[in-house]
Amino acid sequence: MSHFPPIGSSIIELEEIDSTNDYAMQLSSAGLADHGTVVIAEHQTKGKGQQGNNWQSKPKKNMLFSIILNTTKEDLQSQFLLNASFCCAITNLLTDEFGIKDTCIKWPNDIFIGKNKIAGILIENVIRGQQWVNAIVGIGLNVNQTTFHDTIRATSLINETGNVQKINDLRKIIFKCLNRAYQTYLINRVSILANYNAQLYGIDENIQFIKDNLEKTDVLKGAGEQGLLQIGNQHYRHGEIKLLV
Ligand code: BTN
Repeated sequence: MSHFPPIGSSIIELEEIDSTNDYAMQLSSAGLADHGTVVIAEHQTKGKGQQGNNWQSKPKKNMLFSIILNTTKEDLQSQFLLNASFCCAITNLLTDEFGIKDTCIKWPNDIFIGKNKIAGILIENVIRGQQWVNAIVGIGLNVNQTTFHDTIRATSLINETGNVQKINDLRKIIFKCLNRAYQTYLINRVSILANYNAQLYGIDENIQFIKDNLEKTDVLKGAGEQGLLQIGNQHYRHGEIKLLV
């Protein structure tokens, strides 16, 4: 078990902020927040997604939060497994708590229902020399938003279940799933990758992807411990290819 306080033991609630990840990063850098602190906002004016993308979310409709983790006792090589365990936490939440079928993880950290994205994870790490000091785990989960920009194929809990969710009630359930996943990461790391790969979009299937502006097709074999994705006999880093869903 972790000797640290659980995720959500301290919650900082904000009406509006540029990005909960940036705010959490500033707090932890200034030594003003402990492990397990969650920064949660009703609205972000500059929500960040993977690879410099924006994360768009209508005010007060969705879950937007960042968790501060102390990773000083962790090995830098375990960064991808931390990401994988939080991906599994969100798919578990969707299947176990909401009975949603057809959830999957699109490598490396997009959560999909069918062909529509419902959640995204952006982990930003503080690394000094060889020491992994902090991880800021940012999660955006679409909850009560029913319509999305034309260019985005997205869904939400309300669109999938037909029910409006109380964001405050949802927090407790999410933190429970996240704490369970984090404990698995701490004590049973070997189980994470198999669980992640079992839920991976396109696993063992021919998938289409773009590499160097060329469209290719080959069999997706799965992700390795360091997060490289094997397609056919090649291993790819995040950002090197784009999977077509
Ligand atoms: C992605 O799918 O590209 C990752 C999206 C991560 C969005 C969340 S919302 C809360 C936290 N704060 C941010 O600025 N980004 C993350």
